[in-house]
Amino acid sequence: MGHNDCELNLSYPPVEVTEKNCTYACLLLNDYAGKNGELTALTQYFYQYLITKYKYINFGETLECIAICEMRHMEMLGELIVQLGGNPLYRTVNNRNNQFWCGYNVSSTQDIIRFLKENIQAENIAIKNYEARICQINDSKIQKVLERIILDEKHHINIFSSYIDEFI
Ligand SMILES: [Fe+2]
Repeated sequence: MGHNDCELNLSYPPVEVTEKNCTYACLLLNDYAGKNGELTALTQYFYQYLITKYKYINFGETLECIAICEMRHMEMLGELIVQLGGNPLYRTVNNRNNQFWCGYNVSSTQDIIRFLKENIQAENIAIKNYEARICQINDSKIQKVLERIILDEKHHINIFSSYIDEFI
């Protein structure tokens, strides 16, 4: 599988909200910069790209491509957060308590099979979180964006699974 297969041939819905809502902004901060959010996914895959690219060029480029896809997700979530009236700092807010994003959220394993399995687990958690958010956020414009992001995360699971078969 080459790196060009990392993207789905499917456009994104407009990144818009119906009206300002700070509760929704706070909910989306979890998907943006929470432990299993897009910032973690982006930096996790970027790390894996750096440590593999000199040995496995195509695999490394696939990881980079997926990292860039996660950055686009992060961008869309950040745009939604700002439009909702929130502040896109890299933290979650619970009961007015800031929990800032931390580099410890990124797994340090360099074992390829192990990190591919971790990636699949992380994507499954992200999908569950987005499904919960779609129930919590009663704004069809936001729901459409989250549903589209879920399709990318499912595609990433397929890519990681096929690489497990390749490396075993
Ligand atoms: Fe993502």
